[in-house]
Amino acid sequence: MNKFQKLIEKKNKSKIVCLTAYSKNIATILDDHCDIILVGDSLGSVLYNFKSTRSVTLDMMIEHAKSVKMGIKKSLLIVDMPHNTYRSKKEALINANKIISQTKCDAVKLEGGSKIIDIIRHLIKNKIKVHGHLGVLPQSQKGKFTYKGKKTKERNKIFEDAKLLELAGVFSIVLECVETSLAKKITNSLKIPTIGIGASSHCDGQVLVTDDLIGLNLINVRFVKKYLNLKKAINSAVIKFKNEVKDKKFPNKKHSY
Ligand code: KIV
Repeated sequence: MNKFQKLIEKKNKSKIVCLTAYSKNIATILDDHCDIILVGDSLGSVLYNFKSTRSVTLDMMIEHAKSVKMGIKKSLLIVDMPHNTYRSKKEALINANKIISQTKCDAVKLEGGSKIIDIIRHLIKNKIKVHGHLGVLPQSQKGKFTYKGKKTKERNKIFEDAKLLELAGVFSIVLECVETSLAKKITNSLKIPTIGIGASSHCDGQVLVTDDLIGLNLINVRFVKKYLNLKKAINSAVIKFKNEVKDKKFPNKKHSY
């Protein structure tokens, strides 16, 4: 059974754990615990202070993914295709191949449903493994975001898109900020796993941005749970260092040649 079949096998058996990583050191820690490590284009806002993920480039994704790959032994490595890198079948295939050959990742993730379905089919036909992404689509989001699935038309569209993506051959789908009963309906209707972020516990797995979870990226949205205040821990270590330097306690003999 390959990595993808193993992941799909988890559906209805055990929850899938997915986190983002942008560098080797974090990936090394996550690898023991995650099924999937995602190099998300969220790195645009988290690391580069961009207003949206739309300014993230292919080169940025590739460089971060190369670093992450060095920390991974067993997890499935997925890399986001950034905005404007999959506007046509040809462009998508060139860029997906570039990401995969340069980073040695297992799959790429693209945002959208029916609008990009021909592109997704083309990638899959050309042996690229694709992860879907529905609900809130940060690359197309204009203005403030709200969760998806309030209105019937929107619910039907997301549901149809999920079926379409499965039929096209994606191996899993992220559901971002999707209303609970819709996430449940989609999850129960698909054979492939759904990975939720702000999309309830009904999804087959969960993903969070690691920097949010460890309290490095201070974001205040409902779906994020902060499991650690790393900012506070770093702050106290830095204060200790500063004080020891000023008091001439660091470096002592042990840390000198
Ligand atoms: O870019 C990202 O980190 C993502 C996850 C939030 C799913 O797409």
